[in-house]
Amino acid sequence: MKLSVIGCGYLGAVHAAAMASIGHDVVGVDVDPAKVAALSAGKAPFFEPGLQELLSEGISSGRLRFSTDMADVAGAKVHFVGVGTPQQKGGYAADLTYVDAAVKALTPYLQSGDIVAGKSTVPVGTAGRLAPSVEAVGATLVWNPEFLREGWAVQDTIDPDRLVVGVPTGEPGERAAATLREVYHTATAKGTPFIVTDFATAELVKVSANAFLATKISFINAMAEIAEVTGADVTQLADAIGHDARIGRRFLGAGIGFGGGCLPKDIRAFAARAEELGKGEAVGFLREVDAINLRRRDRAVELVVSALEGDLFGRRVTVLGAAFKPHSDDIRDSPALDVAVRLHGLGAKVLVSDPEAIENARRAHPQLEYEVDRDEALKGAEVVVVVTEWDEYRKDLDPAQARDLVSKPIVVDGRNCLDPAAWRGAGWTYYGMGRP
Ligand code: UDX
Repeated sequence: MKLSVIGCGYLGAVHAAAMASIGHDVVGVDVDPAKVAALSAGKAPFFEPGLQELLSEGISSGRLRFSTDMADVAGAKVHFVGVGTPQQKGGYAADLTYVDAAVKALTPYLQSGDIVAGKSTVPVGTAGRLAPSVEAVGATLVWNPEFLREGWAVQDTIDPDRLVVGVPTGEPGERAAATLREVYHTATAKGTPFIVTDFATAELVKVSANAFLATKISFINAMAEIAEVTGADVTQLADAIGHDARIGRRFLGAGIGFGGGCLPKDIRAFAARAEELGKGEAVGFLREVDAINLRRRDRAVELVVSALEGDLFGRRVTVLGAAFKPHSDDIRDSPALDVAVRLHGLGAKVLVSDPEAIENARRAHPQLEYEVDRDEALKGAEVVVVVTEWDEYRKDLDPAQARDLVSKPIVVDGRNCLDPAAWRGAGWTYYGMGRP
């Protein structure tokens, strides 16, 4: 099928490449000429495992191309909108400028019978507001939220847990749902749940899924706070409650908390939208979720300060990790980088290492020092702070060898990803998050 994808960021670029890989003819459109040039040359403009290969394959097969010209969407039957919905400057609500602009720019090129499928995460009510302008030209708007995780984006796009599509009532909605079923033929053929619903439910599925995940992480981080004053071990607690199938162990990783381009801004936008709807109290707990999350960054900083007996001035601190999570070079609202910046603000000489995110981190925080080589970065450290659980730190870092590189063997494990017994056994003073 002929498809277009408007917006070629983390979501759109992966969506375009993944749709080409399952046999569709895809054009990706973005306003950023540099991004379009990179993508057209088969280069992923950000680090996402598997994307590079998919782009090269798609481009050489002739089924995938990129453009800055919206007119190139002509002929496509389904137009996916995957532009960003960042947090508004000076507020908590979502900034819908890009979604509104994309739909407005796309509309003149729509043919009667085309489908516009919104994928961006939007406040409930957005699809209903945009639908009339799309329907005016005989096209149908649907909302088809995206649940991909960075680092697993290719797999999540091609083989998702579920597909959700919010459609208008009546024949156009039924036809659009059937078309989307065809678009996602590889997933639907293998029985992936395909949920057809109304606009509001589809929009809410997305934000409530993210709210639930954020709440799960903050729940375990709240338990970490209690563990810290009682001598309990939050990782054992998580294992124990996680054995209950109703609870489950995933997303019970206590540490410096969640960040990234989605969870933080999505829970804030959800709370803001609920306020607008006069139901702020229904999701008032999300403010608590946010506050718990941010307190964990303070706690990591406190641990470093106390490990250095209150004096950070001029002390060498090596921070392992800058990305908001492993398998990504994304530093948007990264708790890892926030901890590094705060330590720098307290006078420490902060050296940050990360296998993928240094370029982005340096651009955002040129005041920090960077060293991509992990072992180089460890040399002379008075404290090592692990803040992104890359395998390079979690699995491959031998505490005995690392001890020979640093000047003081003190480690703060901001992700509870190291084995305390192994590190203590190798002579390190180990501090975890919510662990004795
Ligand atoms: C999230 C949702 O998972 C995805 O479905 C949605 O489409 C976009 O937002 P993503 O932002 O890629 O995806 O990251 P995710 O894997 O959810 O992790 C978010 C943050 O939570 C990271 O900073 C991660 O380190 C943190 N986290 C995750 C924890 O602190 N503890 C955990 O147990 C799990």
